[in-house]
Amino acid sequence: MPDFNRRLLPLLGHSGGSRDAMTCLYRCGNACDHPAPNESDNPYLGDVVNAEMTRRGVVRAGAVGAMVLGFGGSALAAASPAMAAPVETAPLGGALGHGHRPQKAGRLTFETVAPNTLDQVTIPAGYRSSVVIRWGDPVVPGAPAFDVDNQTAAAQARQFGYNNDFVGVIPIPGCGGDRALLVVNHEYTNENLMFRGFTTLDALSVEQLKIAIAAHGLSVVEIERVGRTGEWKPVKSRKLRYNRRITALATEFQLTGPVAGSAVVKTAADPSGRIVIGTLNNCAGGVTPWGTVLSGEENFNQYFVGGDAVAADVKPKLNRYGISTTARYPSDSRKWDRAQERFDLAKHPNEANRFGWIVEVDPFDPEGRPRKHTAMGRFKHEGANVIVAKNGKVVAYMGDDERFDYLYKFVSDKKYIDSDSPWARKHNLTLLESGTLYVAKVTGDSDPAEIDGTGKLPTDGKFDGKGQWIKLVSGNTSFVPGMTAVDVLTFTRLAGDAVGATKMDRPEDVQPSLRTGKIYAAMTNNTNRGVGANAKPDEANPRNANKHGHIFEITEDRGDHTGLTFTWQLPIVCGDPAAADTYFGGYDKTAVSPISCPDNVAFDSAGNLWISTDGNALGSNDGLFATPIEGKERGHLRQFLTVPKGAETCGPFVTSDDRSVFVAVQHPGEITGASIDKPASVWPDGGFAKPGVVVTWRKDGGPIGS
Ligand code: FEO
Ligand code: CA
Ligand code: CA
Repeated sequence: MPDFNRRLLPLLGHSGGSRDAMTCLYRCGNACDHPAPNESDNPYLGDVVNAEMTRRGVVRAGAVGAMVLGFGGSALAAASPAMAAPVETAPLGGALGHGHRPQKAGRLTFETVAPNTLDQVTIPAGYRSSVVIRWGDPVVPGAPAFDVDNQTAAAQARQFGYNNDFVGVIPIPGCGGDRALLVVNHEYTNENLMFRGFTTLDALSVEQLKIAIAAHGLSVVEIERVGRTGEWKPVKSRKLRYNRRITALATEFQLTGPVAGSAVVKTAADPSGRIVIGTLNNCAGGVTPWGTVLSGEENFNQYFVGGDAVAADVKPKLNRYGISTTARYPSDSRKWDRAQERFDLAKHPNEANRFGWIVEVDPFDPEGRPRKHTAMGRFKHEGANVIVAKNGKVVAYMGDDERFDYLYKFVSDKKYIDSDSPWARKHNLTLLESGTLYVAKVTGDSDPAEIDGTGKLPTDGKFDGKGQWIKLVSGNTSFVPGMTAVDVLTFTRLAGDAVGATKMDRPEDVQPSLRTGKIYAAMTNNTNRGVGANAKPDEANPRNANKHGHIFEITEDRGDHTGLTFTWQLPIVCGDPAAADTYFGGYDKTAVSPISCPDNVAFDSAGNLWISTDGNALGSNDGLFATPIEGKERGHLRQFLTVPKGAETCGPFVTSDDRSVFVAVQHPGEITGASIDKPASVWPDGGFAKPGVVVTWRKDGGPIGS
């Protein structure tokens, strides 16, 4: 058995970018140490343009432009598409606060927070922040107080889980904007930082493994406003209607959509192929207009062992999802098979197919089964965010967070009903169960020869171009030759490969702006871009060995979110603004903050873009940033907040009254060599580090940021 602590050392400075090696191990199973699972020969963007140019016989320097792209619409028309008229709706119509008016765009006046490496949450002058809830705090009424030296799985299954990521705040109707449900994902655990005397994963007791399994999942916590401020805290009561822990240990999930009940998801424990125990590695997510939460099952691969013993025809499917088929226990294995046999693919080869979905949780139904929507495809889902299209259908935008993987959208069959009535809500709860899944293929409008991998802007001054949504599957109809609808939905990455989707630099959170209808996707980084035999830089992923990531902005043609074509730009190319390879919407770079590894995005009511980071490759702590994204201030990005040592900034969530911004402080103190006995961070309570959710508000009660 490998020794965990010894194994850490060679990982220091490994090629995976800026994350600490310990984060790489626990979070994503050392994904960066393995070849990127996308071995398809999908053309990189330059190939697409060149092939098209050759076909049309227009290969000549310069005049490449939009004419070679063939996705319809002139470059001129594409540059000024009709804006969307999205339905702007607060969940359940329950805006927080009374008489709130959306803020005007472009008014961000907070004092910039400087880069730092402090073991604290740092906020601008004039603001306050507090910890709302942290690992171990009681969630379910009657849960025991946290005792780090006497942890049990039964207690953890009722307490706030580990490594909070997604944060949603959903007003409780009828509570005057002063009560809400805080819904939080617990992405993964770090046993070094959880258990005193930790030596190796192999040395953990089965009970400790079950504690870790129970610390995954989600929490639903009723919170209340403190006085008339922007501060929020958990409601203390013995009667809490909605508080709930959803765990990987015991919570039953319902599979919906075309894959439910099919052979690929049937197991010995669930011959129906319809009921799955638990959810794994829930990363980002979104709040729907009907008041539910969507959550992405991301790096689920690391929980499974025994991939070496599956049938030969199954192995390529496991490999494409990063599950080793050469070793029973790959180096990243958590060996949960010691606690639950289902994690052993040698015995239960279909079990992995039951993870990697978008999960929908109705926080107002504390007894109900959350659902996994197979119609939305299976990949390393970062999250999903929906917008209501002009025709009433709901459209979910989604990223597959792996180097060289793809961007997707889902369009519902049915239309959203804009009402809080019980019958309307019952209808809206079915919207994500059937629809059409698309994958993105993009092209640039500049001469590919101008994209040299240095980040230098092409002569037209922008990284931009056009895109196409390629239909993969609609209901039970597959549009991918050789694959059934069930195949396409269960092995969606292979379907994306087959249709020539564009390899992106780790698509993470993808979210539409409800002000403009434009969609913003964080490309966190991809240090393999252009390296060796990997895909070369292209206009949408323009830098070799992309350490700092970029933001990808989509404008759907004619403002139609259900449509097949779009234009795109890179409004922000991250890094040190003093470096030539960065770009901030053309804004004066001396006025912007350094930013590295954008991960999650959010909007305030003014439409300003908020970006949180994961793995700052510039040497300071991760943080939360805000920038106007329209008008003259576009790209005027500044740092609003930093998180403690070793932590990543997740969430973020700006409440609909703009008075509070929530972030999840994930994995504080996760620095190689640290343990709970020798912590690198003692945030927030001293002694040792605990992941927790923080709310920040303005002392004078005004809108955040402005
Ligand atoms: Fe869990 Fe893609 O970060
Ligand atoms: Ca261009
Ligand atoms: Ca993330």
